[in-house]
Amino acid sequence: MFELGGARVVIAGGSSGAGLATARLLVRCGARVVLNGRDRAKLNAAQKELGDKASVAAFDATQPADRAQALAKIGAFDHLVAALSGGKGAAKSADLSQSIVFLIANSFMTGCVLECDGGLRLVGQSL
Ligand SMILES: NC(=O)c1ccc[n+]([C@@H]2O[C@H](COP(=O)([O-])OP(=O)(O)OC[C@H]3O[C@@H](n4cnc5c(N)ncnc54)[C@H](OP(=O)(O)O)[C@@H]3O)[C@@H](O)[C@H]2O)c1
Repeated sequence: MFELGGARVVIAGGSSGAGLATARLLVRCGARVVLNGRDRAKLNAAQKELGDKASVAAFDATQPADRAQALAKIGAFDHLVAALSGGKGAAKSADLSQSIVFLIANSFMTGCVLECDGGLRLVGQSL
């Protein structure tokens, strides 16, 4: 276990799966996390579980205007975790339909890459 000393971490895809698991670990290490997802009910449940070290930002990371507005509102942070999926969770690749593969690819490649692009401008800026 390591100590993150109040570092602020934005987790794209932080309301379930790998992103939420990462959020749990980061909070245990002393970080403050901002969870991003689209479904407010999922985000609120995750925030309730994690307590006052967590806040939420509901937006679709594949939508440039929503993403830019949300990142500006979030403000400065120290780390960005990119854990978006198509919102369908992981499954055996043989079981995935082509449309789900495209959905995952779009969310992960478009959402994560663009969120990193927009988000990295905010990393390390003083609050
Ligand atoms: N789980 C594993 O074992 C595993 C292993 C290796 C790699 N991965 C990769 O890790 C990533 C996450 O997988 P997972 O199983 O953790 O998926 P998951 O449980 O479906 O979680 C995906 C997260 O991304 C959010 N999300 C999806 N599309 C979004 C969008 N356009 N804008 C904002 N938020 C969005 C979801 O929230 P909403 O539903 O509210 O949008 C949710 O918080 C995937 O790329 C997967 O391929 C997973």
